[in-house]
Amino acid sequence: MIRRNRILRKSPAIRSMVAETILTPADFIVPLFIDEGKNVKDPILSMPGYFRNSLDITVSEVQELWKMGLKSVLLFIKCRDELKDNKGTEALNPQGLMQRSIRAIKDACPEMIVMTDVALDPFSSFGHDGIVEGTEIVNDITVEVLAKMSVSHAAAGADFVAPSDMMDGRIGAIRVALEQNGFTNTGIMSYSAKYASCFYGPFRDALDSAPGFGDKKTYQMNYANRLEAIRETIMDIEEGADIVMVKPAMAYLDIIREVKNAVEIPVSAYHVSGEYAMIKAAAEKGWLQEDKAIIECLTSIKRAGADLIATYFAKDAARLLG
Ligand code: PBG
Repeated sequence: MIRRNRILRKSPAIRSMVAETILTPADFIVPLFIDEGKNVKDPILSMPGYFRNSLDITVSEVQELWKMGLKSVLLFIKCRDELKDNKGTEALNPQGLMQRSIRAIKDACPEMIVMTDVALDPFSSFGHDGIVEGTEIVNDITVEVLAKMSVSHAAAGADFVAPSDMMDGRIGAIRVALEQNGFTNTGIMSYSAKYASCFYGPFRDALDSAPGFGDKKTYQMNYANRLEAIRETIMDIEEGADIVMVKPAMAYLDIIREVKNAVEIPVSAYHVSGEYAMIKAAAEKGWLQEDKAIIECLTSIKRAGADLIATYFAKDAARLLG
C-alpha cells in the first residue's frame, strides 16, 4: 500500500494537528430569554437546564458569559399578555423590556455583542410574526413595524438587529430606516433561510408565542426546498444584510453548505430549541452522552459551513472546549 489513511489518525496529537474544523467560544451566539421581575430564574419545561431570567440575573449571566470567551448574545423577551396586541405595539416602547435589557447589558458589559430578535410574535395577540387581517399575515404593514422596531433597538444600543420574521423586503426597509435615523453602525443579521419547522416547539413554550391559529407556512420556508434558500439569502444580501442565517441547523446541513458556497459574507446557523431538547431528552434517559453529542453536533454545523452558531449549548460548549 502506498497510501495508509490511518497514519493521520494514529494519536490524539496527530488527529488534532490535521483537524479541519476547530470550534472556539467566539463561534457561538448565546440566545437569552428575558422576563419581567427581580431575581427570577424560571425553568423552561421543554428545555431542561435553560431558563427565562429576569433582567438582573441576565446581566450577571452576560458578565459570566463574557469571562468564558463568549462574545455575542441574542435577546428574546417574554411580553406580558396584557401588553400584546395585533400590531405588536409594545415592541416599539422605548421603555419596553427589550429596550431596557439592551441598555442594561451594554452598560454592564459594553464589549458584549448584543443582537436582538426582530419579529412580532412575542408581542402579537395572535402569536404570529406579522400583523393579521382575517386569516392573512399581511406583509407590507408588518415590514413598517419591523423597521421601526429595529430603529428602536438600535437607539437602545443593539449592535445587530436580527429579523426572524421572513416577511418580504424587510431587510431593505430596515437598512433604509437605520440609515435615515443615523444608525450607520448597526448591523443586520438576517434569518434568511428560515424554515417552517416543528423544531421551534420548545422556544414557543419558553416565550408563550405559539401561533393562535394556523401555522407559519405562508412566511417561513417549506423544508422541501433548497434553491429557494439561495434565492432568499442572495436577496437579503442585496438588501443590506451583514450576516445571513440558516435555521434550523442539524436537519439543514446541506442548506448551510450551499449557502456558504454561494455567498461572500458570514453565514450563521441556528441550532434551535427542539434540537437542544432532543439531545437533553436522550441524555436524560442515558441513551446519549450529552457532552460528546454537543461537541459533535456543533462541529458538524461548523464543518457544514456555519461561521457562527446560535446555540443553547454555547455555555456548555465553551466549558467543554476550555
Ligand atoms: C420568532 C423566533 C422563533 C425562533 C427564533 N425567533 C420561533 C418561530 O419562528 O416560531 C425559534 C428559535 C428556537 O426554536 O430555538 N420569530
